[in-house]
Amino acid sequence: MALWNSRFKKSFDKGALKFSASLDVDGKLYNEDIDGSKAHVKMLMKQKIVSSNDGNAILKALEEIRKEISSGKLKFDWQKEDIHSLIEERLVDKIGERGKRLHTARSRNDQVALDERLYMRKEIANLVKLTKIFQRTLLKQAQQHKDTIVSGYTHLQRAQPLLFAHHLIAYVSMLDRDVERLNDCMKRANNSPLGAAALAGTTLPIDREYTAKLLGMNSVIVNSLDAVADRDVVIELIGACATIMMHLSRFSEEMVLWSSQEFSFANIDDSFATGSSLMPQKKNPDIAELIRGKVGRVYGSLFAILTIMKSLPLAYNRDMQEDKVHLLEAVDTTKDSLIMASELLKNTKFDKKRFEKELDGDLLLATDLVDYLVRKQVPFRKAHEIIGEIVATCVDSNKKLNGLTIAQYKQFSTKFEEDIFKLLTSRTSVKNKLSLGSTSPAEVEKQLQFWKKKLK
Ligand code: ARG
Repeated sequence: MALWNSRFKKSFDKGALKFSASLDVDGKLYNEDIDGSKAHVKMLMKQKIVSSNDGNAILKALEEIRKEISSGKLKFDWQKEDIHSLIEERLVDKIGERGKRLHTARSRNDQVALDERLYMRKEIANLVKLTKIFQRTLLKQAQQHKDTIVSGYTHLQRAQPLLFAHHLIAYVSMLDRDVERLNDCMKRANNSPLGAAALAGTTLPIDREYTAKLLGMNSVIVNSLDAVADRDVVIELIGACATIMMHLSRFSEEMVLWSSQEFSFANIDDSFATGSSLMPQKKNPDIAELIRGKVGRVYGSLFAILTIMKSLPLAYNRDMQEDKVHLLEAVDTTKDSLIMASELLKNTKFDKKRFEKELDGDLLLATDLVDYLVRKQVPFRKAHEIIGEIVATCVDSNKKLNGLTIAQYKQFSTKFEEDIFKLLTSRTSVKNKLSLGSTSPAEVEKQLQFWKKKLK
């Protein structure tokens, strides 16, 4: 019988029960549910609301139930509705009437809000750990490619040469903000709604601060309606996951491009590539594509939770049960994707020689020539125009920038001297960068050292 059935003349319709049941999802929070219940009972004992005899029997039985669940002995029967009912029913099975005191001064409304926060606290720590592992993997590759020159792009058109390490460190830096977002979310997740009861608090002399302290939480969410009514922190965490996934998806997209024959830059290890059932020659970057594709789930979860919450009157509404589907989906997908992104990168070799020669004299060095004229006191806009005309000449005559003679250069500006040809290699272009955070070897080395220290 359901926990709430005594006021009804009929039992709940089977189909309606099945539709309401959430055990398949919240069953995954059984540890959190038991931890929360234990703190609650300890508080009830301290406040003399429950005797220490009864309380201790409950504490012991709860630990036994934990083992029964983890060993698979206690089966999840969906007819028990949710994890809270399942555990409470089992408790009463085991210790009889004494078990019926567990839910004193508590509602499933504050109970589920607490379970969820304990779950988020654990998973935020896991997400931070996995993000840092991926950052370290990026950094390791960066270390190996301090001298590898690649083309940098804007609009996926060649823009300026870069050190590949610089490109990889850009992701390290983005992911650092993801870690910050997670840590920031932790501050708000790790607060206790327990003791809000259904919505109004309780007439019994509970100690909310004590349970919060027992659970290692920062503080109590004081307003009892707020404590049970909001899911903003769930939204925040899924939002942080969505941003991580967006970053992983961009990285994955680049892996797909780099491993194409057209780029011929990345060689994914066979153990992380797939073939085709029809075309024998194929080697496909499915893992990168799947990370890119799984973003859909997390964005979907974010949109779902925002929609679920948008019009709910205070305080608890059953709609909110749907939140955990999306929270767990987003967290699991993000964790799996972080692991795979890191493994994929670890198992990829990049061709150090792929771009450098090809980029020597390439039109992507045009900006270096603009800066050359600027150093010779030509106003920037004028210099841009001159180099634009030179580029047009190169395009028309199918030449690289180093394919023109100094005499030809001088027709565009008398400021050009022989020394321009020294500028027309991709390596010089990179080396000549001066500004903070640029792609020069010295700046990239500084960035490498900075992140190495930070991620130690
Ligand atoms: N399974 C419910 C949930 O996840 C627990 C709270 C139920 N509370 C209620 N008043 N029906 O939200």
